[in-house]
Amino acid sequence: MKRILFLFGTRPEAIKMAPLIHTFKNDTSYCVKVGVTAQHREMLDQVIRFFNIEVDYDLNIMKPNQTLPQLTSDLISKITNEILLEESFDYIFVQGDTTTVLAASLAAFYQKIKVIHIEAGLRSHDIYSPFPEEMNRLMASRIANIHFCPTPLAEKNLKEENCKENVFVVGNTVIDALFMGLEKIKNKGYEKQLLTKYNFINFSKKIILVTCHRRENFGKPFNEICDALLEIASKEKNNVEIIFPVHLNPNILEIAHKKLIATNIKLITPLEYPELIWMMNKSYLIITDSGGIQEEAPSLGKPVIVMRNVTERIEGIESGNAILVGHNFNLIVEKTIDLLKNKDHYDLMTSVQNPYGDGTTSEKIKFVLSSLN
Ligand code: UD1
Ligand code: UDP
Repeated sequence: MKRILFLFGTRPEAIKMAPLIHTFKNDTSYCVKVGVTAQHREMLDQVIRFFNIEVDYDLNIMKPNQTLPQLTSDLISKITNEILLEESFDYIFVQGDTTTVLAASLAAFYQKIKVIHIEAGLRSHDIYSPFPEEMNRLMASRIANIHFCPTPLAEKNLKEENCKENVFVVGNTVIDALFMGLEKIKNKGYEKQLLTKYNFINFSKKIILVTCHRRENFGKPFNEICDALLEIASKEKNNVEIIFPVHLNPNILEIAHKKLIATNIKLITPLEYPELIWMMNKSYLIITDSGGIQEEAPSLGKPVIVMRNVTERIEGIESGNAILVGHNFNLIVEKTIDLLKNKDHYDLMTSVQNPYGDGTTSEKIKFVLSSLN
């Protein structure tokens, strides 16, 4: 029986690991353990609750406003001492490009445990954007033994880096998770509950959903983003309601609450995963720097204005569902107003197929792994 560990720490990793954990737990030929570093706390716990994940190890790492060096060193020593030296594993699954992924891969390598990397091969080709994620995923790819790519472009990126063995294109588990979330929001009772909970939001207006958390956007860029949101709110006062579930990172949280004061801007706490999907469904368009939201939006037929200078999710741009605007005030305002007024442009961005997956990725990963064993 193969012994496998799923190790993750932040909200998006948990969302993308959840369907995979359930898939492997349903197969008695694997002994499955779950470890969380808790690089995020509240935002991770929200996901664990919704997906009913049983946690075997919780390293409880998060500190307020943690720094990269401190986080990285805490992670490597705690993962090693409190998990990997406690129990033996054949494989460790890591997902994506967070500091947890880098530290977990390195710690596993030191113990000579095989690393399986999910969402492998994403590249912006700029090591400082996203920062530190581009370097995290480059290093994770060097260490990993098996690479599960979401798209052919990700596979191509790996091959260009001479990473050619055990590379498989399987789609992104985020779409498996999305389908699980969509099941929940189909329930009429749940919808009613959410309408009551968020009754301060005027849903008869066009809803613009905003999220922002990337380190490249901290400081001056985020101030410029806030100015752009204020401008949109003021220009479209009677038509638009901006809903911003604010990330708990103090670099975003404090400035958002200080600057974004307008009757049609609602700052709310991070949404539970099915609530976020429900809010995406209710929205007219999305303005974000999130990776996961860029992947989910095409399935829900929502256009995405991406507040980054570069993205590794080129497929969304090429399909026509997303446009890049960086943190540029004029571009954010201009592209948003255009999508509010120009139905033809809007329709072009919303009628695309999701390039990131079809909801069967977890099954594909299990099938491939079984055939390798
Ligand atoms: C991290 C990841 C990023 C990922 C993002 C997803 C790194 C370096 N960054 O960024 O790749 O896109 O998560 O959201 O791995 N905080 C809380 N409660 C929480 C979560 C965060 O209070 O539940 C606050 C804490 O003060 C914490 C800070 O946010 O110190 C930063 O968290 P951290 O994980 O270091 O960075 P993120 O910006 O969340
Ligand atoms: N998300 C959520 N609640 C929110 C905002 C986002 O559940 O309030 C989900 C979103 O649907 C996506 C994931 O979190 O699946 C993205 O996480 P985030 O933007 O923090 O990180 P990234 O994907 O950029 O690494």
